[in-house]
Amino acid sequence: MTSLIEQLSQIVGDAFVSEGLPAAMGAVQPSDRPDLAQFQCNGALAAAKAAKANPRAIAEKVVARLKANELFGKVEIAGPGFINLNLTDNAIAAWGSDLARDESLGAPETGKGKTAVIDFGGANVAKPMHVGHLRSSVIGDSLQRLFRANGWNVISDVHLGDWGLQMGQLISEIGRRGIAPLYFDVNFTGPYPEQSPVTMDDLEEIYPAASAACKADPERLEEARKATAELQAGRPGYRALWEHFFSVSKVGLEREWGSLGIHFDLWKGEASVNHLMTPMIDDLKSRHITEESDGALVIRVAQDGDKKEMPPLILVKSDGAVLYGSTDLATIVDRVQEQNPDLILYVVDLGQHLHFQQVFRAAEKAGLNGKALLEHVGFGTVNGPDGKRFRTRAGGTMKLYDLIEMAKSEADKRLSESGIGLNYEAEERADIARIVGIGAIKFADLVNYRTSDYIFDLERFTRFEGKTGPYLQYAAVRIQSILRRAEEAGYTVSAPVIRSPQERNLILQLLALHDAMVTAEERRAPNVLCDYAFTLAQTFSSFYSEHHILSESDVELRAARLGLCKLTLATLSKVLGLLGIEVPARM
Ligand code: ARG
Repeated sequence: MTSLIEQLSQIVGDAFVSEGLPAAMGAVQPSDRPDLAQFQCNGALAAAKAAKANPRAIAEKVVARLKANELFGKVEIAGPGFINLNLTDNAIAAWGSDLARDESLGAPETGKGKTAVIDFGGANVAKPMHVGHLRSSVIGDSLQRLFRANGWNVISDVHLGDWGLQMGQLISEIGRRGIAPLYFDVNFTGPYPEQSPVTMDDLEEIYPAASAACKADPERLEEARKATAELQAGRPGYRALWEHFFSVSKVGLEREWGSLGIHFDLWKGEASVNHLMTPMIDDLKSRHITEESDGALVIRVAQDGDKKEMPPLILVKSDGAVLYGSTDLATIVDRVQEQNPDLILYVVDLGQHLHFQQVFRAAEKAGLNGKALLEHVGFGTVNGPDGKRFRTRAGGTMKLYDLIEMAKSEADKRLSESGIGLNYEAEERADIARIVGIGAIKFADLVNYRTSDYIFDLERFTRFEGKTGPYLQYAAVRIQSILRRAEEAGYTVSAPVIRSPQERNLILQLLALHDAMVTAEERRAPNVLCDYAFTLAQTFSSFYSEHHILSESDVELRAARLGLCKLTLATLSKVLGLLGIEVPARM
């Protein structure tokens, strides 16, 4: 369905064309001054500039044509030549009725026929997830939902960190501890046991120990490097151990992401492109894309006009090991072969910006990216009250699991304070706390434009007032309950009508979902959806406080108002859904 704004732009554009001016000048937008008008068009100013003419004169001609169109209740020139537009209530209500019949609630089809790979999550095997991974997961999940809703074919890939030095560190530490000697026995020819010799808890203890040992002792580091190289070269026992690391980590990660309602289409990682590495490197060498530099194989990516130094991408180190950049490059080759996407988004913290610039430039230089546009969707940090990176009280990395638990218990506290669910069964009550707690952290993360840092403040995130997830969840639950009571009473629900400014504003806001979805996609910015949802809830709230709904005695009016409630609920739930936020059945 084309949006209201698109249709208005078409109409005003036609009026410009009739005056011999470009159609693009008829672009309509919501008014900057909603107190003066619903919509505005600034095209006469641009047209006048191009033609060195008087903008008001141009605006007058366009306005004269628009006045003949009965959709408009008011067409006026403001200031130097802005065109202010108001629609008639009949026109708005007719659009509202069309919207109520549209299953997609006006979703755009910007992605029709296009494929996007979204690389997010990015957790590392054997290491617990931290708040940085939370941001990647929450933003990436919202983008996958949004792109899908906009008609894209989306493939999400978790791209696990599973191939670097940390694997060699784990292997050599396990070797030293003598936990699983079979995997180190070069004479053993397999098959290896199906049962993993280590659990996720073991790995979480072994990895930090191994990493600390390597920091303290160069000999241990050398051992870990050697083990990494042997793993990458395919030593069977190491490969078998790696399989175990991967599987036990996957079970844990899947559970953690699952508890957040986040799912991936692909569980690939750095290791899954290992087989592409040698052919890719050979190809790059033969095409003279690579250069030797101090024994390493590199791709130079500096360009004229670079303001900052742009170091080359190191493909193979002097000791033969491949690096993070090499696996990212091979992953592009894999994605082009497997999905041939139009777009690859990397939802990864801003700290990795240079890395992605190097990778993207190298891929483009070598023509590895097919038709895909490569884009780093960066994000800022989550900070503690001191403004520094968020940590545990003891100063350690805050694990995602602990964070979710904290959010649930804070939500539970809030529910008690507000007297919500006091007499519910314990199970339902816990479920509401879970939905509210997770909704609170997701919304608080998404509401900021992604490149800004924010302070983690559960007390604020879980409030039922203000721009929070719980406020929106509560708003949705309230409408649910109105509709439930209407149903119990056997009331009819009809198409919305406009009898008051609040009803008019609410329908206009419902009609704006399409534009919010387009803008959020263009900017890769779920905060646009958060703003939209918040404005919608507020617009509904003023409608609700000014009108009788269930107690309205005029039966037709009651039905129309219930229709507006129904459309608002559908729209609010849809936007919350795009943010990955659930709505409890009751609160
Ligand atoms: N595993 C990485 C980390 O924890 C993030 C991976 C991001 N994705 C990518 N294709 N490099 O920092």
